[in-house]
Amino acid sequence: LDNGLALTPTMGWLHWERFMCNIDCDTDPHNCISEKLYMEMADVMVKDGWKEAGYEYVCIDDCWPSMARDSQGRLQADPKRFPGGIKKLADYMHSKGLKLGIYADVGTNTCAGYPGSLGHYDIDAKTFAEWGVDLLKFDGCYMPKWTLLAEGYINMSRALNNTGRSILYSCEWPLYEWQFQQPNYTAIQQTCNHWRNYADVFDSWNSVTGILDWTADHQSLIVPVAGPGGWNDPDMLVIGNFGLSRDQQQTQMALWVIMAAPLLMSNDLRDIDPTSQDLLQNRHLISISQDPLGKQGNRTAKVNGFEVWQRPLSGGRLALAVINRQEIGGPRSFPLTLALLPSWRCCNLQCNVTQILPQYQEMGVHSLFSKLQVLVNPTGTALLVVSPVKGKPYTRPQ
Ligand code: DGJ
Repeated sequence: LDNGLALTPTMGWLHWERFMCNIDCDTDPHNCISEKLYMEMADVMVKDGWKEAGYEYVCIDDCWPSMARDSQGRLQADPKRFPGGIKKLADYMHSKGLKLGIYADVGTNTCAGYPGSLGHYDIDAKTFAEWGVDLLKFDGCYMPKWTLLAEGYINMSRALNNTGRSILYSCEWPLYEWQFQQPNYTAIQQTCNHWRNYADVFDSWNSVTGILDWTADHQSLIVPVAGPGGWNDPDMLVIGNFGLSRDQQQTQMALWVIMAAPLLMSNDLRDIDPTSQDLLQNRHLISISQDPLGKQGNRTAKVNGFEVWQRPLSGGRLALAVINRQEIGGPRSFPLTLALLPSWRCCNLQCNVTQILPQYQEMGVHSLFSKLQVLVNPTGTALLVVSPVKGKPYTRPQ
């Protein structure tokens, strides 16, 4: 969507995967969906280097509103859980140099049964703008007819634009349309700043691989439409929770940056282990994510229980990920050779290779015929950046 926003993938925090629809503030005040949760997350984001690393949006998901609209037909926050209202929360975020995201639904109800926006797009967009909201995640539950999805998402995009406020628009249009037909990705890219294609992420390796497999299977359709202003959204980062091992967390981070995905964490930043924090704040990974060329990567090889993914970067560089998809045995080595990696041609005549994951390591200057191996743990990923050596640009062989 050409609204000047999301020129690089969005970075921030979104409550859903970790906190879901916990509205029980009496027995679980620390984790329930309330203004306190977002304010505490914002405080930590400033204090513990998240904001400095680039994480900017603090996003509310489902279960924030009151069950009824107000007397003027406007959505209102649940008064018990958000006593200050959303405007106060937006002001709070802005005072800390952060941004606030909110959630609504294209249909009659949100997935959790709260009021939906169908028939209220203009007034809801206006309300969000008046509150000072900076991002809208627009879910797709309870659309009376699926054929109205496109119209609904497009009308809300217009409504947001008409407010005159810059509001990043995060859609789930293709996810809901896939149940009936192949979505029109050109229309989606013109309408949304990012869009969910596939099932909700869970805190498990199975979920992460399901998303990677779906993405690779559909890459010829979805990769070409991604770019500045519009990104495929494989859903939240679940790093720092309970379900992924250290290697699996590295795989999620590496592949989300290869996919030029929004980096929206869903975890508890108030209590996250330092290893996960270091991974999420790794500046080499974030700079790949935010690379100005803005091209999404894709899977380029599947061989011997390994997958190779690569993303073209600015300056003729290349990010290269090797996943060990074998879930048995120990670390296995993968040879980086011209035979397995046609893109390795960018090392003609020479390239500089830097390993980012599992740990940072300068691997030196290599040529087309160097024998370079990377060692990858089961379910882990080796991530490398390959840069042509200056003065010796890559030229396509005749
Ligand atoms: C379905 C979406 O895909 C999730 O990300 C989350 O927003 C839930 N709905 C909320 O009900």
